[in-house]
Amino acid sequence: MSDLRARYGPWAMVAGASSGLGAEFARQLAARGLNVLLVARRAELLETLAAGLRAQHRVEVRVASIDLGAPDLLERARAATDGIEIGLLVYNAALSLIGPFLEQPLADKLRVIDVNCRGPLILADEFGRRMVARGRGGILLMSSLAGSRGAPLVATYAATKAFNLVLAEGLWDELGARGVDVLACRAGATRTEAYVDSAPEGKLPVMECAPVVTQALAALGRRPSMVPGWLNRLGDFFLSRLLTRRASIRVMGRATRAMYPRFGERADGIK
Ligand SMILES: NC(=O)c1ccc[n+]([C@@H]2O[C@H](COP(=O)([O-])OP(=O)(O)OC[C@H]3O[C@@H](n4cnc5c(N)ncnc54)[C@H](OP(=O)(O)O)[C@@H]3O)[C@@H](O)[C@H]2O)c1
Repeated sequence: MSDLRARYGPWAMVAGASSGLGAEFARQLAARGLNVLLVARRAELLETLAAGLRAQHRVEVRVASIDLGAPDLLERARAATDGIEIGLLVYNAALSLIGPFLEQPLADKLRVIDVNCRGPLILADEFGRRMVARGRGGILLMSSLAGSRGAPLVATYAATKAFNLVLAEGLWDELGARGVDVLACRAGATRTEAYVDSAPEGKLPVMECAPVVTQALAALGRRPSMVPGWLNRLGDFFLSRLLTRRASIRVMGRATRAMYPRFGERADGIK
């Protein structure tokens, strides 16, 4: 048990909980005595995770198979939380589109906005209100180091991660004054299903999910945003403080093209 339960109990909601970082958030929160509501699309994975958490940590676990990008998200979220108090919202889910912007259908890009921006906005609005009314709570939004500047080949995804960072920072101040802790976690490359499925090449340092989640939960209530891992913090310092913005976009572009050579070089051949 921990002060996390006292600060954010009795229930945490993890949006995007069926695998990777989301499943790890659920495990660590349950281990610290919080009941968890697991949300994602793949109900079977959620049920398996829920059974394990109930058996291992003796907490209550609910599952809700919801598409976080669906138009009826608010109604579905309200139904799933009927009769329970969500003291902590973790919005982990994201859709990551990799490839040249103009080769991706507009509908796919709009779907990225729905899952990565509209979803967290709706849930922060709904549960932020309830938390403020109780005078306590926490909201953790997953951002990314990719959200700190323009990022070629992941332009839309990176822009949505900037949205989460800036939204969380604003709410950190606004809701923080009303008892609700808000944090953006600016993760670097992390070994999740989505990351592995993207088939990156080369030898980029990759973090495991557990330390990312441990460090994010430790930072909640202490600062507006955090970067897990010292190597990521070093990279962030280099890109954000030592380089011009223009140079840092170019470095990101070179790194992303090296990770995903299947998309080819810059159109003008400039390295
Ligand atoms: N992995 C990295 O290298 C990395 C780096 C920086 C930041 N991040 C951030 O960390 C978070 C998680 O990372 P990840 O993308 O690698 O994911 P992940 O851990 O592989 O899992 C994504 C989760 O979101 C759920 N999800 C996706 N779309 C959904 C939808 N429309 N409705 C409901 N649930 C949905 C997935 O479940 P279902 O498929 O069952 O719906 C899954 O549980 C994201 O916010 C990402 O931006 C990741």
